[in-house]
Amino acid sequence: MITPDMPISIGRRICKNRITMAPTVKFCAGPEGLVTDFFAEHYALRAKHGCGLICVEATAVSPEGRLAPTQLGLWDDAQTEGHRRIAEACHAYGALVIPQIHYGGLGTHPECGPLTSPTAVMWNGWGRQDMARELTAAEIRRIEKRFIDAAVRAKAAGYDGVQLHGCHSYLINDFASDVNRRTDEYGGNTENRARLGCEIISGIRDACGGDFIISVRVSGCDPTVEESIRTAEYYVKAGCDYLQVSSGIRDVSDLPHDESLPYNRVAELGVRFHEHFRGIVPVSAVNGIRTPETARFLLENELVDTVDLACGLLADPALAEAILHGTPYVKCFGCRRCGWGPGHSHACPALKKRGNEKWEWETTGKS
Ligand SMILES: Cc1cc2nc3c(=O)[nH]c(=O)nc-3n(C[C@H](O)[C@H](O)[C@H](O)COP(=O)(O)O)c2cc1C
Repeated sequence: MITPDMPISIGRRICKNRITMAPTVKFCAGPEGLVTDFFAEHYALRAKHGCGLICVEATAVSPEGRLAPTQLGLWDDAQTEGHRRIAEACHAYGALVIPQIHYGGLGTHPECGPLTSPTAVMWNGWGRQDMARELTAAEIRRIEKRFIDAAVRAKAAGYDGVQLHGCHSYLINDFASDVNRRTDEYGGNTENRARLGCEIISGIRDACGGDFIISVRVSGCDPTVEESIRTAEYYVKAGCDYLQVSSGIRDVSDLPHDESLPYNRVAELGVRFHEHFRGIVPVSAVNGIRTPETARFLLENELVDTVDLACGLLADPALAEAILHGTPYVKCFGCRRCGWGPGHSHACPALKKRGNEKWEWETTGKS
């Protein structure tokens, strides 16, 4: 039986337990995409209270590919020093820490750059219909280089690795999905649709070395579960050490799901991936894992290798301790007020209820 406190190898590193903080954007970086005091404290608090791995929020590899004008960045050397503060603050509590590196594609914010896509397509993002522009092969290679350069900066900042954002309709997910109708080497069969992710992974491996964690947060259902698993096989072959499985472009509501299970459809994608990749690379499930009972069920029944916590951990920075040691915690109300957009991130009622002066700054965004 796996218990939440058991260490696990991720690539060549050891994660001290099975609980990870999911990437969750806070949108408070300002137009230069720089780390502020808030970020280091925000992540260090979750590391201090038990998370074995911190995945720092979606961090832009290029300003024109941002998902918000206030998104954190790693596109410029001037941003590296700030990230060092996050890495050091989390390492002080024995956690591994990796940033999620990201390029918007179909999820690009209209104030940051044009919608880009493997294939020209009408897309409804950010509340409006827009025609997404097809990237040329030369542009694709420039974006790949942006990812690799961002990973090199992440290494220089002291991070243990990086995670590629390969889900939620952002660029790497767009290429793997059936939005991709290209006829060149980046489209067509699964191998070609996985090529963007694979070339980024192998470029990072060459530039950052064998002991640098390369994780991918994949969509588990684009265009089908089986094909997402095949896409992930290519990522693993290219050098990916660790898969986190979330959703993507395809609507998950029609996926078959046994409602009597104590976890939801998206978390079930993680379970399906784990069945396939068991003993090859560790797999994490995410979505709706907001109580110690759900987290323990998934781990103790060996359904996944790690559990990835998002809203529950925004609601109570000490949720990981509750999973590890059974200590009290405040449960996420599921109101989604933590989500998306400046101002929303600090409106979590559970965090306010927690009411501990120690993390009062979390509810105001001011340290
Ligand atoms: C405020 C907020 C920010 C998020 N930011 C990211 C992100 O940066 N990268 C990402 O892959 N997913 C992001 N997500 C999705 C979460 O990581 C997670 O997949 C989702 O919230 C479901 O998990 P949960 O039920 O534990 O909240 C975000 C979600 C929320 C609510």
